Order: sequence, then C-alpha cells, then structure tokens
Amino acid sequence: MARLLLINGPNLGQLGQREPAIYGTATLADIEALLTHQAKALGHDLVTFQSDAEHALIERIHAARGSADFILLNPAAFTHTSIALRDALLSVAIPFIEIHLSNVAGRESFRQKSYFSDVAVGTIGGFGVTSYELALTAANRYLARGGS
Ligand code: DQA
Repeated sequence: MARLLLINGPNLGQLGQREPAIYGTATLADIEALLTHQAKALGHDLVTFQSDAEHALIERIHAARGSADFILLNPAAFTHTSIALRDALLSVAIPFIEIHLSNVAGRESFRQKSYFSDVAVGTIGGFGVTSYELALTAANRYLARGGS
C-alpha cells in the first residue's frame, strides 16, 4: 500500500466548462473519483488537492513530506512559470509524474518550456483523462519496482 497524492494546479477546477475542445468534458471531480477508484483497486490510498494559488500548492507539497510516497501532478500553467513549485518538489524529494491533459508539445511556444519535466520520474500528456490513468499505472509499477 502506497500513499499517493494527486495535485492539480490553477484553472483545473474549471474542467468540464473550460475550453472543452482542448481539455475535454470531464470535471475535476470526475477525474478525482476515477483515480481514487483506480488507486483503491491497486491497493493504494489516494489523496487529492487542487488550488489556483501557487503558495497553497507549495504548502501542500511541503505538508506531503513524510506522508506521501508519490505525487501525481498537473501543474497546469505553473508548468511553464514556477521555479518555486519545482523547488518545493525538490525540497521534499518525493518522486512525481508530470501530467497534462493536452499535448503541450503541439501547442503555443510558451507551453514548450516545463520547469518539471527534467526532475520528474516522467511526463505523460496528450491523452485527456487517460493521461491521469496512465500516470497512476506508471506510478504503481515504479513503486512495485522499489522506486526505479
Ligand atoms: C495543462 C497544459 C497547460 O499548458 C495549461 O496551462 C493547463 C493545463 C494540461 O493539462 O494540458 O492549464 O497542464
């Protein structure tokens, strides 16, 4: 049993209404319910957190020290801007996967930069809600291998 933390960044609370052609029609509650169910089926505990505020995301990551084994993170727009969030993850040294609903590599040039990809276990994007399911599958295998 591992302790997993799913963190979603700014504007992801608007999923379902927000640019559905890009992000789909599932709500954040749908995604959280799906992942909670998937984690349980794999024998893990999943805690969820969403905030639009950089400081709240940083504080939640700090609070994960000693209480989470793995983080599933969609940093949303902070992907492309937040050295502070990157530093928080490096500070707690909890392995994480960077998730995106959309394929950021095929979008605007300002989305090409990620402050997380090089320090993440891996990045999964472009598959909508399935990106989250794939990330949880990958986290499960990573943990089963003992973190390698
Ligand atoms: C996103 C991609 C980001 O560029 C964007 O700012 C988001 C969502 C995604 O899941 O595709 O808010 O992280």
